[in-house]
Amino acid sequence: MRRVLIKGQTKLEGEVKISGSKNAALAILAATILVPGKTVIRNVPDLLDVKTIIRVLRALGLRAEYSRSQDNTVEVWNNNGVKHVAPYELVTRMRASFFVIGPILAKKKLAKVPLPGGCAIGSRPVNLHLKGLEALGAEVQMEHGFVIVKAEKLIGNMVYLDFPSVGATETIMMAAALADGTTTIENAAREPEVIDLANFLNRAGAKITGAGTEEVKIQGVAELKPVEHGVIPDRIEAGTFMVAAAITRGNLKILDVIPDHVETIMHKLQEAGVKTEVCNNQIMVSAADAPKAIDVKTLPYPGFPTDMQPQLTTLLCLAKGTSMVTETVFENRFMHIHELNRMGAEVKLEGQSAIIKGVAGLSSAPVKVSDLRAGAALVLAGLVAEGETIIEDRDHHIERGYEKLDKKLKALGVDIKMI
Ligand code: UD1
Repeated sequence: MRRVLIKGQTKLEGEVKISGSKNAALAILAATILVPGKTVIRNVPDLLDVKTIIRVLRALGLRAEYSRSQDNTVEVWNNNGVKHVAPYELVTRMRASFFVIGPILAKKKLAKVPLPGGCAIGSRPVNLHLKGLEALGAEVQMEHGFVIVKAEKLIGNMVYLDFPSVGATETIMMAAALADGTTTIENAAREPEVIDLANFLNRAGAKITGAGTEEVKIQGVAELKPVEHGVIPDRIEAGTFMVAAAITRGNLKILDVIPDHVETIMHKLQEAGVKTEVCNNQIMVSAADAPKAIDVKTLPYPGFPTDMQPQLTTLLCLAKGTSMVTETVFENRFMHIHELNRMGAEVKLEGQSAIIKGVAGLSSAPVKVSDLRAGAALVLAGLVAEGETIIEDRDHHIERGYEKLDKKLKALGVDIKMI
């Protein structure tokens, strides 16, 4: 069990460097299954989820080593001996491990991967991943909790996604990279992590165009070649620190961020009265006053990210007036609300919306983390609460997605301990 202790009410001041993107790194690491020889990936965040995908790669027969000392690099050696069965205990621990299904199928013509199951934020099915693989000619079967996909040959086709799912877009891109002919994904996810995966694959010799738009085309190639790639910065970590500056009425310089990737987050913060200023790959964020109440709806990129909803909700708990936050991406992503209310917030849930009546302050309380971004929301609440907040993070959710969060916050003046 991990406990985070925070003594609140310190203004955050200084500079913070953003780590590599967790979600981009996970997809790219899964894609190394497609690449023969040695692949080098830089700027990979040192996170529990990254350790999990590395363990999945090892279980599949690849050699993968993480080096903190060399720019957070992962080296993967793939001698084409990939196994077709992904281990149950790892895939059920982290949903993104399911993304290996596409590359295993492309390499082995057969993949057996456990269904990832639901999680705290919703049921999270994989029907769109499978619809895509079927369109490429795979036969899909369910057996004893595993998905088995088979295809003698994957053949390019048109796939329409009913929802622009990030994972499904990535799965199809990876499977189609080595297929015969051209695949077109319509209503594809446009998230920056999808673009980073496409850039990685293209560097390795794939022919993908349109990543970042709603129509992605993948012209299959016979083989990929070893490659080096640096992962993009984590826009959700950057957004979380932007909210941390705003909520503590501090003044932060956020380094190593791609401002375009956090544009919607910046717009919403500006609407709430937070000052933001962009200079190349740095963003200055400051706030002198309580935020203004605003309404927010989560949407696929370039809309407001669902992965920032809990953090923004926490900020709006302290706004002047009543805000409404509507979650449209996941059906059950309000677990943090009950905990925030225990800290003195006044939030009511009405269907998929949270109605947030701003209060003047929060007070510390023991609270529990249900999922990664709910954990971030509670850390943010702890930063402003009066007294010492004790956050119980039984499953180490926060470390799944935030690299050295305690050290980064300590350097900005926060009294925080992770024990
Ligand atoms: C990815 C991110 C996650 C982020 C999410 C949405 C990774 C590792 N994780 O998750 O942090 O919150 O995008 O931005 O990149 N859906 C289906 N059928 C499917 C797939 C998805 O109905 O086959 C639904 C999901 O239940 C959800 C919505 O589509 O309601 C969005 O999910 P998706 O974009 O697939 O999220 P992930 O790729 O799992």
